[in-house]
Amino acid sequence: MDNRRTMEFFLIAGFLGLAGPICALLGVRDGEHLASVAYPKSGTPAGMAIDFKSVVMGSPGDEEKGRTLFQANCVACHGPMADGKGPAAASLTPPPRNFQDAKARWTRGREPQDIYRTLSEGSPGTAMIGFAASLTVQDRWAIVHYLGTLDGVRGLYHPVDEAMASAWRPEKAR
Ligand code: HEC
Repeated sequence: MDNRRTMEFFLIAGFLGLAGPICALLGVRDGEHLASVAYPKSGTPAGMAIDFKSVVMGSPGDEEKGRTLFQANCVACHGPMADGKGPAAASLTPPPRNFQDAKARWTRGREPQDIYRTLSEGSPGTAMIGFAASLTVQDRWAIVHYLGTLDGVRGLYHPVDEAMASAWRPEKAR
């Protein structure tokens, strides 16, 4: 083998040796990037930043949206009147919570962040499932704001304040 061929051999071998890892690295990073664009964790269309502060603060519009979402997702168990008397309730132990009764004992916390968490992860060992996969962050907060208007919650929960809303991030929520 003359020197030129040896040089070529090492050059090509070197390129191949480096190219693999470099492509893999770029590929992996690109894949992650693509995934985060295609499946944003928050359920928000790519490129749209969520203003978490206003989502968590809530508005009268959110209470209304939450009421609609409650009627669509929760009434089989919690009932259309949110009194725990849905058609499926009779067969459930423990029974679904009655959100109209201020004296009802709760398994989990009744503050806004606690309710958000129960909505996201459910109440393990009960029929209360988590909705993190089926409802967006905004939807879950809208439901929290709606529940906050009901007799069994209103007087027992401190409405979200500015400081809490500014600090809240979904990744720190659980
Ligand atoms: C399949 C029936 C079912 C559905 C659907 C359901 N829940 Fe529940 N939910 C329950 C049961 C049962 C409990 C009581 C759990 C317990 O005692 O820990 C509960 C508990 C809760 C609690 C916590 C009460 C506590 O004791 O800490 C909240 C808040 C709640 N549900 C909200 C909702 C909302 C909002 C929806 C709709 C998005 C919903 N649930 C859908 C059955 C259901």
